Amino acid sequence: LTVKADKPGAAIQPAMWGIFFEDINFAADGGIYAELVKNRSFEFYEPMMGWKEQRDGGATGRVLVLNQSATMPSNPRYAHFVWDASQGSYTLANEGFRGIGIKKDMQYNFSLWAKAPEGDVKLKVELLAANGTPIGGTDVTISGNDWKRHTASFTASATEPKGKLLITFQGKGTLDGDMISLFPNDTWKNRPGGLRADLIQLLADLKPGFVRFPGGCIVEGHELDTRYQWKKTVGNVESRELIVNRWNTEFKHRPAPDYYQSFGVGFFEYFQLAEDIGAEPLPIINCGMACQFNTSEVVPLDQLDPYLQDALDLIEFANGGTDTKWGKLRADMGHPAPFNLKLLGVGNEQWGPQYVERYIVFASAIKAKYPAVKIVTSAGPSPDGPLFEYLNPVLRSLNVDFIDEHYYRSPEWFLKNASRYDTYDRKGPKIFAGEYAAHTEKKVQPENKNNWESALAEAAFMTGLERNADIVQMASYAPLFAHVEGWQWTPDLIWFDNLRSFGTPNYYVQKLFSLNKGTNVLSILAGNETVAGKNGLYASAVVDNNTKEVIIKVVNTSDKEQAVDIQIPGVKKASAAGTITVLKSTNLESVNTLDNPFNIKPAEQAVSLKGKAIKSTLPPASVTLIKVKAL
Ligand code: AHR
Repeated sequence: LTVKADKPGAAIQPAMWGIFFEDINFAADGGIYAELVKNRSFEFYEPMMGWKEQRDGGATGRVLVLNQSATMPSNPRYAHFVWDASQGSYTLANEGFRGIGIKKDMQYNFSLWAKAPEGDVKLKVELLAANGTPIGGTDVTISGNDWKRHTASFTASATEPKGKLLITFQGKGTLDGDMISLFPNDTWKNRPGGLRADLIQLLADLKPGFVRFPGGCIVEGHELDTRYQWKKTVGNVESRELIVNRWNTEFKHRPAPDYYQSFGVGFFEYFQLAEDIGAEPLPIINCGMACQFNTSEVVPLDQLDPYLQDALDLIEFANGGTDTKWGKLRADMGHPAPFNLKLLGVGNEQWGPQYVERYIVFASAIKAKYPAVKIVTSAGPSPDGPLFEYLNPVLRSLNVDFIDEHYYRSPEWFLKNASRYDTYDRKGPKIFAGEYAAHTEKKVQPENKNNWESALAEAAFMTGLERNADIVQMASYAPLFAHVEGWQWTPDLIWFDNLRSFGTPNYYVQKLFSLNKGTNVLSILAGNETVAGKNGLYASAVVDNNTKEVIIKVVNTSDKEQAVDIQIPGVKKASAAGTITVLKSTNLESVNTLDNPFNIKPAEQAVSLKGKAIKSTLPPASVTLIKVKAL
């Protein structure tokens, strides 16, 4: 192999390797949002879902859920409790999201909005282990007949993956309660009411170039009424209007009737997350179309204005001065500085002439007011087939900024398409490979695994993206997260339960590329040919002008060890030290799990450049990254 370090090619965009976040598989509520109470404001379709009352030993007690939609349309319901526990006990338990994960010695912060119409009320708040043993708690006193937020903290005495929250009503009384909430203290950056730190750390470790949010199909909704409306996800959490999650009823084999969006993670939090982890924010906005896999509901063109206004106001929310309406809200939420939005997606995975008509309306309004913002357009659900064949040329003729191509395909498809962009039209729009994952079984079957076969195929494909970084300027695996007991779609990049989390082999492939993206493409050839499949080898190379390194990625998809002699003409040093990092498994079925999270993980050792060449042996079924400081 020859790496032409003397002829650096196209610049690699700093945002090249990013992440796709969607609230699917309990990724937000029950996932990155560290709230432990499910249905905290009684707004689920069944208002008491997740809650259970219990009366013992002669106590009486009853909850009524009151609806004040006329005065509080965004959070209409609250619970009204009446009880007499002079004898026995009256309790209310919350089951959490597939249980509550509790950590020994961790501080837990409880809060509720409440008023006590008939005098002081004492509540005992406790965490229980799965066997019913109390493992921490505190007392809370509510006084006064006006709504106030009450808080109390306590420390857990044991670790428990499947705990529950128990509230015991003392004596006799009445209470109105809402937003009953419990957070661990160890949130990401210790923000009260914040995000789950272990999951965000896994994202930060990827050093992603961008964060695409909030999806996915949830941008569109099953129908327009349940589309994602960013304005309802900002401001005080109490006033964010909960809606059913698009994935609540999807897929008969994995129904999730308790899947809602509380929007505790809303657009402010997404922008803040992107900033925290050094990524460009890439929000996707609804373009007046519901999910075309479901209702195909669209807004007539002459009634698009509110949708359009949402897009324009979003840019003002992200970038506007604090003297603007939406910029002021951002400042009031704690971020006076702009979020510096440069990219905006119009519609997710839409297709057909209806999409094109709506894109044109959005693009002309956005570009007129914010010419510097680049627009990401949808190219439908598949990289081939009639939808793509119709849409792709139309989007090209409109000279859009980015076309978002999605590929959920077999490992064989990924191998075959590693050279997909080698001959792509360079003059038109740039490509955003916005959702991709190798599916080892038929799409979205439970049998689909994040196994080594899928990760290896993605790595091979990614060498093709990197080789063509002049045109493919952003890429993200999808979906990002899945709760092991709450998923609707598999495979996914990161899996978790209530306490633990792990990166799949696919995660380590993403990380290898993202942390070694370099600044310019170098051509890597076998003779005169691109390395894209011959003998099962796939390769790409980059130079990093900041660190003065040449970085080579070679994927050996064959079942044989292969020796390679890599010549690197053009490097300044004839000999230099470097590292070689290998991800491998001889078993294509191998996976990482909660109990064995590092079954497949990168292993690094030293390597040397000698006479401007490196000799190496590629293990069967492996991804090898060679890095030398030779410039
Ligand atoms: O990633 C899961 C889903 O796949 C996304 O919501 C959608 O955009 C695509 O169909």
